[in-house]
Amino acid sequence: MMQGAVTVLGIETSCDETAAAVVRLENGRAEVLSEHVASQTEDHALYGGVVPEIAARAHVERLDSLIRLATEEAGVGWVGLTGIAATAGPGLIGGVMAGLSTAKAIALARGLPLVAVNHLEGHALSPRLAEEVSFPYLLLLVSGGHCQFVFVEGVGRYRRLGSTIDDAAGEAFDKTAKLLGLAGQGGPAVERAALTGAAGTVALPRPLLDRPGLDMSFSGLKTAVRRAAEELPLTAQRCADICASFQEAVADILAVKSARAMELVAGLTDRRTLVVAGGVAANKGLRARLEAEARHHDFRFVAPPLRWCTDNAAMIALAGAERLRLGYSDPLDTPARARWPLDEASATATPVYGAGKKGAKA
Ligand code: KG4
Ligand code: ZN
Repeated sequence: MMQGAVTVLGIETSCDETAAAVVRLENGRAEVLSEHVASQTEDHALYGGVVPEIAARAHVERLDSLIRLATEEAGVGWVGLTGIAATAGPGLIGGVMAGLSTAKAIALARGLPLVAVNHLEGHALSPRLAEEVSFPYLLLLVSGGHCQFVFVEGVGRYRRLGSTIDDAAGEAFDKTAKLLGLAGQGGPAVERAALTGAAGTVALPRPLLDRPGLDMSFSGLKTAVRRAAEELPLTAQRCADICASFQEAVADILAVKSARAMELVAGLTDRRTLVVAGGVAANKGLRARLEAEARHHDFRFVAPPLRWCTDNAAMIALAGAERLRLGYSDPLDTPARARWPLDEASATATPVYGAGKKGAKA
């Protein structure tokens, strides 16, 4: 256990954002001293999805300057750092290797400890960047590669309660945007288009809602969106209606399952907190819906500010700082991992078979 302040440089390169940040953790309170993110959305726009080789190269090209910016702005210098943290998985392996090897090189050159962070742990701890959120809490982690309920008992102590059995929710947003020909990142594009649409005008299924348990499914919803998009003419209004109806279907699924998860967690602890994190947690309609559900169940609702929902390095630096404080660090030969479940025990007992493009991240 480390006493006093812990100041960590964090590096994130698991998908299509290159990011570096410096976070100081003192008396359980996190302070983001600097953070920089470079999105690659434009690099991949031509191809309709993230191209792993392009992503890896873009990370390599941008990392040095982002790290320089983040360390200079933090104003602590190399000597002011306690350690270096980088995402070591799960994610697109070329990108993860780019960030992790950079972190290893800095750790070696500066004689600092390395922390190999699980990207999902970064999302799981992200609410603690902005406010005090004590353990344990119920986490709904919804991103482009993942959709799961996790009981977060402490740093490094995660119990998966349920998960998507096929696509992640963010992936469904991305596919919907692609099917409708919307430009830009999928989630925000669908959210924008939905503003002028009427929810419920397009009938879409809510898969698995009729079944008990906390597992979820989004692939049937995606197929239904494809069918709706094929009905011509696909006017701008119809497109907006599909987006609004799709968004409502996702919110319904996540709200009903969250209600069930809260009932389960109320039996495990007196601390009633629901946290939603990950890229899809940036969705305003979804946040409002889950907040109402939490209130109804007498749970405190926490969602990180938008910039810490989508991929960022502050959450990786925080996870690194929390781990260092507890005395954990990793050897310099730690490998990058394409797959790395947060809860290895549940993942082994009940594997989740992802068929989607980012299924490998599960
Ligand atoms: O956490 P994240 O940045 O990366 C992963 O770890 O996967 O999540 C990215 C996902 C993408 O699928 C993106 O479309 C979705 O989050 N997303 C959103 C919104 N902003 C990002 N989905 C719905 N509404 C949004 N506003
Ligand atoms: Zn992420």
